[in-house]
Amino acid sequence: MSREPQVIKLKDYQQPNFWAKKTELTFDLNEDHSLVTSKVHYQHNPGHDRTLTLAGLSLELVSVHLDHEDLNLDAMDYSPEHLSLKDLPDTFALTITTKIYPQKNTALEGLYKSNGKFCTQCEPEGFRRITYFLDRPDVMSEYRTTIIADKSKYPILLSNGNPVDSKDLPNNRHQMVWHDPFPKPSYLFALVAGDLGCVEDEFTTKSSRKIKLQIFVEKENLDKCDFAMQAVKDSMKWDEDTYGLEYDLDIFMIVAVSDFNMGAMENKGLNIFNSKYILANPETATDSDFEGIQSVVGHEYFHNWSGNRVTCRDWFQLSLKEGLTVFRDQEFSADMNSRGVKRISDVKVLRNSQFVEDSGPMAHPVRPDSYIEINNFYTSTVYNKGAEVIRMIHTILGKDAFHKGIDTYFNRHDGEAATIEDFVKAMEDSSGASLKQFTHWYHQAGTPRVNAELSHQDNKVILKLQQRLPMTPGQSDKHAQVIPITTSFFAKDGKAVPFLYQGDTKTEHVLIFDQGEQEFVFEGFAEEPIPSLARSFSAPIHLDYQYSDEQLIFLMTWDNDDFNRYEAAQNLAMSLMKKRQQSPSYELPDEVLTAYKSLLASKTLDPRIKARALSFPSIDYLVSLEQEANIEAIFETRSWLQESIGHSCYQELWDAYHQSHKQDSYQLDAEGIGNRELKSVCLSLLLATGKEDSVALATSLFAKSNNMTDTITALNELSHVNDPRRQDAFKSFYDKWSHDQLVIDKWFALQSSSYHDHVLAHVKDLLEHKDFDLLNPNRVYAVLRQFARANPKGFHHSNGEGYQLIADYVLKIDKTNSHIAAMLANSLSQWRRFDKGRQGKMVAQLERIKAAEGLSKDVYEIVSKSLQ
Ligand code: ARG
Ligand code: ZN
Repeated sequence: MSREPQVIKLKDYQQPNFWAKKTELTFDLNEDHSLVTSKVHYQHNPGHDRTLTLAGLSLELVSVHLDHEDLNLDAMDYSPEHLSLKDLPDTFALTITTKIYPQKNTALEGLYKSNGKFCTQCEPEGFRRITYFLDRPDVMSEYRTTIIADKSKYPILLSNGNPVDSKDLPNNRHQMVWHDPFPKPSYLFALVAGDLGCVEDEFTTKSSRKIKLQIFVEKENLDKCDFAMQAVKDSMKWDEDTYGLEYDLDIFMIVAVSDFNMGAMENKGLNIFNSKYILANPETATDSDFEGIQSVVGHEYFHNWSGNRVTCRDWFQLSLKEGLTVFRDQEFSADMNSRGVKRISDVKVLRNSQFVEDSGPMAHPVRPDSYIEINNFYTSTVYNKGAEVIRMIHTILGKDAFHKGIDTYFNRHDGEAATIEDFVKAMEDSSGASLKQFTHWYHQAGTPRVNAELSHQDNKVILKLQQRLPMTPGQSDKHAQVIPITTSFFAKDGKAVPFLYQGDTKTEHVLIFDQGEQEFVFEGFAEEPIPSLARSFSAPIHLDYQYSDEQLIFLMTWDNDDFNRYEAAQNLAMSLMKKRQQSPSYELPDEVLTAYKSLLASKTLDPRIKARALSFPSIDYLVSLEQEANIEAIFETRSWLQESIGHSCYQELWDAYHQSHKQDSYQLDAEGIGNRELKSVCLSLLLATGKEDSVALATSLFAKSNNMTDTITALNELSHVNDPRRQDAFKSFYDKWSHDQLVIDKWFALQSSSYHDHVLAHVKDLLEHKDFDLLNPNRVYAVLRQFARANPKGFHHSNGEGYQLIADYVLKIDKTNSHIAAMLANSLSQWRRFDKGRQGKMVAQLERIKAAEGLSKDVYEIVSKSLQ
């Protein structure tokens, strides 16, 4: 870094000097460069200075007109990064022409080309790569967009809103005009031009308006859009049924592109997606791909209200739209599928990424106070912890008051750029409750630790809770938070005990735990019960309660909350691993094995809950719980647990596998998905034993599979095996699918996450493979992020070569796409959690990156904060 980059602070927020009322854009798209003309009608913001400073990035200025006057560029204050004008009148129109190079844009922000198509990504600050603008979310204007391009190469020309005009032009060119009647910030602008096929459908809203639905993809992919289209219709219906929110334009379009930094983008009326979250059929997509598509389609659609109709005042408020929208998409998926399974998945994501983030140098509050590069704050804290914060408000206020609050929020702020305070105020006003103390969740980083102790006396149970919030960077003085703890108690017969609490008799209660230390007294217990705490994961906390293994087995069998049943299994696994670490001769006792066997044999339990109970906490999560983790010991005991269960329950696992394996019929429904998931977990425990017939089983599943889920299950197992059948399987998979980029991503990813002894050499070969493309984010993720995040064994090899490889690629990729480079650099940030040897090696790589010439501010922010 040549100079220290500027730190942006929330407390410095000021309104702009001018508002942009109307924006007229003309794009003249060409093969070498494109010309963009923006005519913006500005209005002075009373009481503010009369200087207008517009943001730009890598722009070439061609001309500027102030109303009708052609300004002399030599006398102007501008650079590729800004354009500034002084002493401006109350209202005026500013017309600016810029020259840009979409074909050379490898950052994939602003206007760029992907696979022959022009497309855009403007959130958060990509619009400034298109034209000089007040590129900030509180400046909302009405857009009219004209797109001009070659008619044969780009027959389809799309932008936000409704099409209002089209015509042919000389030289085989044509133009299309779009108008979006809803004022919006520049980050929601979108444009697409290309030769695309389209799948069309229709949705009738609750007020009987007919909405045209279109999904645009490359023509060879037209047969892979049905599932996404159904998800659009389901989302529209769900938002009407759940929140009374109706779609507002006459047309809703989605475009799938193969080069995209993130998952998808909610541009008004024209969502642009990473093709990974649209294209699917059972031959090419796994069950979890389908789940991902449904939730991302829902997520972007729900943004039409939570994000677009009501947007964010500044980027510190990002969780206002993202936390709320993640909560909305989680609930949508829960309603469409199994609620319990969905909750388990969401908590897994939270623990594996947000809890890890919260325990390291990048820990930040749901509403950060400062940033260097806002792209670094599209984090699991802002998204997933943000959603947990919304969920807690829902839990504390109750469903009805919550929905009233949402109504108030949208009614009050429709068409505005709002803040998190506005949201909280709407919730308070419509419920009458105070959320003052609750808002610490937005401002304090770190995962609270809650310690629980229970005592039984006479007829009473006393639950004593203590909370502690660990220190995080820049925050040492922490306040007690409001933590909802949903609680039940179970008796020895397996039933929930009705209890008396504050005058009511019930079997479940949401305790509001809002002090450092607090006691809750419940009556009606002849015997000491077993508590079931924080049911459905009622708060994003670490909960410590000293359960015995016997009690955990009891809860795993009897708890009627799916999540807590899973949680008991997780805690049991952790307790068994700890015992093994403490004494290397420890073996699983019969009671534990019997519990696993009867779980497998249960006729009533959802196969997916069985599967989750038999999958154990991730290495990353286990590491994040320690001060200085002994990663070798964690690997060793985790493998021991899998292998012991595999050996001792071999027959039961074998039987459960075969019962779930419905060879000839494939169904994409709860039963089919459940069977495939259970089958996969059984197979993995069978292979943990290394027995020959388990390898043969995986080989035969691979050979006979008629769907991608089973194929990937088998190939994943074979990827860890040191055997010629591994190579054969990867080769035949490649030969079959080499034409399909998304499927080949899986081929890359499975080799990168393999626990094969030579994985580093394999990854280096993959990086040299003819299909590897450093400019394609999905491919970089499949190889490098997969290695750094999903292969702790390879990445954390004690020789440090994994760290060196990632650092090499951070530096390489930073030259073309700093956003992706920063995400990769982040995998080195957790160095403090490891032993001294690994710490030194990780720090050396961070230092090497930091010292590099011409580093982006994205990567600079990650590495400098990691080293602090
Ligand atoms: N708003 C998008 C979503 O949540 C994410 C876009 C983020 N893009 C970025 N370059 N950081 O779906
Ligand atoms: Zn979002």
